[in-house]
This record gives sequence, C-alpha cells and structure tokens, in this order.
Amino acid sequence: MGDIAGCSWCSLVLCSIGSVTVVYYLLRWSWQCWHGFKVYVLSEIWQTDLRTYGQWAVVTGATSGIGRAYAEELAKRGLDIVLISRSEDKLRSVAKEIESQYKRQTRVIQTDFTEGHSIYSAITQQLEGLEIGILVNNVGMNYIGVLANFLDVPDPDQRITQVINCNTLSVTQMSRLVLPGMLKREKGLIINISSEAASEPQPMLSVYSSTKIFVTYFSRCLDAEYRSKGITVQCVVPFIVSTNMTHNVPVNPLVKSPASFAKDALNTVGYTTYTSGCLSHALQHFALSIIFPGWLRLSSFCVQQMVKFAQSVEPHLRERMAETKKQT
Ligand SMILES: NC(=O)c1ccc[n+]([C@@H]2O[C@H](COP(=O)([O-])OP(=O)(O)OC[C@H]3O[C@@H](n4cnc5c(N)ncnc54)[C@H](OP(=O)(O)O)[C@@H]3O)[C@@H](O)[C@H]2O)c1
Repeated sequence: MGDIAGCSWCSLVLCSIGSVTVVYYLLRWSWQCWHGFKVYVLSEIWQTDLRTYGQWAVVTGATSGIGRAYAEELAKRGLDIVLISRSEDKLRSVAKEIESQYKRQTRVIQTDFTEGHSIYSAITQQLEGLEIGILVNNVGMNYIGVLANFLDVPDPDQRITQVINCNTLSVTQMSRLVLPGMLKREKGLIINISSEAASEPQPMLSVYSSTKIFVTYFSRCLDAEYRSKGITVQCVVPFIVSTNMTHNVPVNPLVKSPASFAKDALNTVGYTTYTSGCLSHALQHFALSIIFPGWLRLSSFCVQQMVKFAQSVEPHLRERMAETKKQT
C-alpha cells in the first residue's frame, strides 16, 4: 500500500515538472515567434519616422556595400547625410548621386579609421553645428579577405592594430562625438553594425570575430545606459551581404543585396535594439545555432576542416579579390 502511494506521489511530481517544462517552452517559443513577427513582418507595414531623431544622419564607411546602402535608404527617408570614408573621389560621387536622386543635403568627410585616435578631432570640427539624429557605425574590415590563422595574417604588426582601430575604436569614438548633442535634445539613434561572426567565437577570423563581439557588447551596454534619456542604440548582426568584403558573392535567398538589407534593417528600428537585420538572416542565425553550435565550431576537427576549406578556396578568393579591386 505504502509502495503504491509513494509511486503515485512520484508520478505526480514528474507530471508536474513535465507540464511546467512544456508550458515554459510553449510560452517561450510563442513569445519568440511573436517578437520575430513584429520585428520582421509588422515592421514592413508600420515604420518609425526616422526624421524625428534629427536632421542629419552620419554614416561611416559610406561609399560602398552596406554603408552606402544605409546612406541611400536614410536619404530616401528624408534625412540629410554626412558620408565618411577613405576615398575623396568615391565620397564626392556618392554624395552627388544622393543629392540628385533624393534631393537631400550631403557633407563628406575623408578619413582613414585605421589611423587611430588622431583623426577624431578633425571629424569633430567637421560635424560641428549639425543636428545629428542618427549615427550608423558601419565601417569595418577583416585582415585580408580570406580565412587565416592568427599568425598567418600578412604584416600582422600593422594589420592587427588597423583592424582593431577600424572595427572598435571607430565605434566608441564616433559614439562619444555624437552622444552629447543627442543627450541635449533627448533624442538620437546609434546603429552599430556587428556581425554573425561574433555570435559565437569564429576561428580563422579571430581578430575580426573578437572586434565584432566588442561592438555587440558595447551597443547593448550603451543602450541600457542611455535608453531612459531618449537615445536608442541598435546592434545589427548581419549574415552574408553581397559586398566587396564578401567578394560580391551572388545574391540569393540566403545572401542579401546591400540595398535590400539596409531597407529591412532600418524597418526594424523602434521594434528591437538587437537584430539580424532581416528575416532570412534571423532564420539562418536560428538554424546555425542548432546545427553548428559554438562547441562544435571550436573543436579541433572543425578547425582542421576549415583550414582545408580555406586552402581549397583561397586561389578562387584571390582571383575574386583582384577582380573586385579592379572594379572599385
Ligand atoms: N558584407 C557582409 O556580409 C557583412 C556581414 C556581417 C557584417 N558586416 C559588417 O558590415 C560593415 C560593412 O561591410 P561591407 O561588407 O559593406 O564592407 P565593404 O563593402 O568593404 O565597404 C566598406 C566601406 O568602408 C569604407 N572603408 C573601409 N576601410 C576604411 C577605413 N579604414 N577608413 C574609412 N573608411 C573605410 C570603404 O570605402 P573606401 O574604400 O572609400 O574607404 C567602404 O565604403 C562592416 O562593419 C562589416 O564588418 C558585413
């Protein structure tokens, strides 16, 4: 009799734990689906009016790829644009195109973000007097455009510092420059472009992956610190977008064009402060986290396979890099 009572008590406890677990996961998945629906579907219908943040948007790395697409999309949505990049010629040509196509004002700032802290006083001067509502910290680089072990990076002494300056110092210093004005007006949006390569540690892209997780953490901390003061800091974590950085890999359902990516990603402003930018990339992130989790990416077996893969595709990538260089 005692045995039977003990057994039914045990099943009751197990049933309760089972039911609570099922309810917990159902609620969690329902919330995730609703959140995804809001961020990637509803946002296509109702969008935040970006002009409410202020008159000017500043975009770093604005002459090609994702940065240029953000600059054009922001101009299309009614903002005047400050374009920042290395090449004066490209800056002037993109500025001219934006002015004639979207009838917005532009300013250009020529600078090289690999140079470190010395460049920011000149940028401060050139931004003076502008009502900056939006900053897009887009500029970013990898070491050489192919996968490589840390010590195999050519000219590592210089290259490592350049990648860190370009990918992390630019984000922190540019945010420092625009935040005081935004705080005065109690309004502002900072968009920081991180990368899916930061979602988990990424061997063979070690410095790139590490700088991008810096961008992610910095964005989330900054958002928490300044949200109550009217500032939004959004971290965008793209998968693959067809740009010079990705050797202009052809667009397909998994690979977005810069224009379509920037449009989708800007739609998510006001819905979330951490986003893959578009539905296709969010689904890829979800699938990858299940089939290729961090522990597997970091296993010796996987790293060896990546080395083999990198060696096999390197000649092809170098050809594409040479082609891209010729075109730009
Ligand atoms: N493409 C992707 O699949 C992908 C995926 C995840 C994250 N991301 C991130 O998205 C951002 C943009 O990438 P992208 O693919 O659009 O790159 P991209 O096509 O190579 O464009 C880079 C832009 O930055 C400028 N630039 C490069 N180095 C610079 C420097 N040292 N100083 C000033 N400007 C510089 C370039 O113009 P100039 O040559 O005229 O200076 C260009 O306008 C990066 O932060 C990247 O890490 C890209």
